Amino acid sequence: MINFKAKIAETIADVTKINKEELQSYMEIPKDSKNGDYAFPCFRLAKELKKAPPVIASEIKENMKIDSEIIEKVEIVGGYLNFYIHKKLIAQEVLNEIENNENYGKSEIGKGKNIIVEYSSPNIAKPFHIGHLRNTLLGRALYNVYQYLGYHTIGINHLGDYGTQFGKMIEGYKLWGEEYNLEENPIEQLMEIYIRINNLCKEDEQVLENCRENFRLLEEGDKYCVALWNQIKDLSMIEFNRIYNMLGIEFDSLKGEAFYSDKIPEVIDLLEKSGKLEESEGAKIIDLEEKGIHTPCLIQKSNGSSIYASRDLAAILYRARNYDFDKCLYVVAYEQNLHFKQIFEVAKLLGLDEKYTNGLEHISYGMVRLATGKMSTREGTVIKVEELLKEAIQRAKVIITQKNPELEEKEEVAKKVGIGAVIFNDLSGARIKDEIFDWNTILNFQGETGPYIQYTYVRTKSVLEKVNKVPKFKEINLEKIADESSQNIIKLLYHFEETLRQVTNKEEPCILARYLIDLSKAFSNFYNENKIMVDEKELQDARVYLTYSVGKVLKIGAGLLGIQMPNKM
Ligand code: ARG
Repeated sequence: MINFKAKIAETIADVTKINKEELQSYMEIPKDSKNGDYAFPCFRLAKELKKAPPVIASEIKENMKIDSEIIEKVEIVGGYLNFYIHKKLIAQEVLNEIENNENYGKSEIGKGKNIIVEYSSPNIAKPFHIGHLRNTLLGRALYNVYQYLGYHTIGINHLGDYGTQFGKMIEGYKLWGEEYNLEENPIEQLMEIYIRINNLCKEDEQVLENCRENFRLLEEGDKYCVALWNQIKDLSMIEFNRIYNMLGIEFDSLKGEAFYSDKIPEVIDLLEKSGKLEESEGAKIIDLEEKGIHTPCLIQKSNGSSIYASRDLAAILYRARNYDFDKCLYVVAYEQNLHFKQIFEVAKLLGLDEKYTNGLEHISYGMVRLATGKMSTREGTVIKVEELLKEAIQRAKVIITQKNPELEEKEEVAKKVGIGAVIFNDLSGARIKDEIFDWNTILNFQGETGPYIQYTYVRTKSVLEKVNKVPKFKEINLEKIADESSQNIIKLLYHFEETLRQVTNKEEPCILARYLIDLSKAFSNFYNENKIMVDEKELQDARVYLTYSVGKVLKIGAGLLGIQMPNKM
């Protein structure tokens, strides 16, 4: 497809002699299409050219050589240059591409670049909670979009499978193991042991010491400790995998914290060499005061055990060497902002190429809070994700049965709708914002929800089913879809790839979620204003073709977010 934005930027670059990429980055898409398809804000050049924006605008307009095959007209409004592309040309570009490209919007812009997306990363032996769910979905959506844009992606589940807490669990198991049956509800059993041993540690310093010693032994490879730890890990993974399966999530690597244990000495060595590693009460730390971080980064405990931060530093070294990453994204809740500031700063002392240290990025996100009301929760605050997903499916089933009692394969559809609703809800807001979880909102077929997008898709499907055959692009008379509601759809379809690029530029899946809502709404408008099945064949064909295009893009876009489309609902 023609990249109109780039074409316009080139034209302006010829006149101003300013770099076209820079100019392109200034360009905007006017909210109101009355102001054209693209706007160039001249005030961005005022400083450089030492002229007032309206003056710049008229000088550019006078001197630029516009390609009249592409641009219908240019207007000056205030300090803006507004560009209008020939409507027919946009339609032709988009609709032709949709016919010829199974993977519409896919590109190769990321070719040769390696992107690590570290996501999910729950702590084993602890419940997988609603925050991990949001994390998992955010990470997966980013992974998918990067991949679609041609990047080589590596999805890593950095399991929290190490640390003193395992020393504690081992101690608890030594003391009371025979009272528990780990095979049955392992995570609940382990949590009980954990709570019990924690209480004992508070009372008895010696017990705490034993726990630390257990972790030291585990790290040294002690047989008993390693076997028990392996069992805990396996049992936890069985639980987590049930959730990942329901969500259709896979990872390229499951190397968790423990994997880095034997790689800590090199980290200590490198930091030692940097001259920044200090002793503090027997422990090793890096002071970050001069970097404006007021809490020092703890690197090693006084008993020599590794620690969360040092395992992360070893992971950075390992990933730089083994994946040669251009970006390493850490999808982790904002509670860990300080931790990532610290390790990203300390990573600069490891002697790595700047490419790597510049590529580290914390993708933080807000908490999930519950709207009051019924929710399958056991202890009030801990919501079991598996139960939540099952409940979503159940509720979806009730709704679709009411709406369409005759529907076949209700179970399958309910799965897609229920899970789709949860996924969309998790991804629809800016990630840094806290999220409210409310059943009534997320399953509302008329709201800005996953089911609304699915429902729109199903409507496109049922139109296609009625006509039985999608016309060929070359048979379409574009004059028949020159009305405003059709044009709105065409423009949105054109912006799909750009939308995906923005998702990666800002690391914000909500941009795609928003896009899918806008496209669904545009289709509803079109559908309400235009009868699709009409006597005039040319008109019907054009409208059917547009309907087909919307369905295709909705499905691709939703798929990238991890949402599956039912054919009927
Ligand atoms: N396991 C941690 C938790 O659940 C998150 C790990 C984040 N990733 C990292 N590289 N530190 O809190």
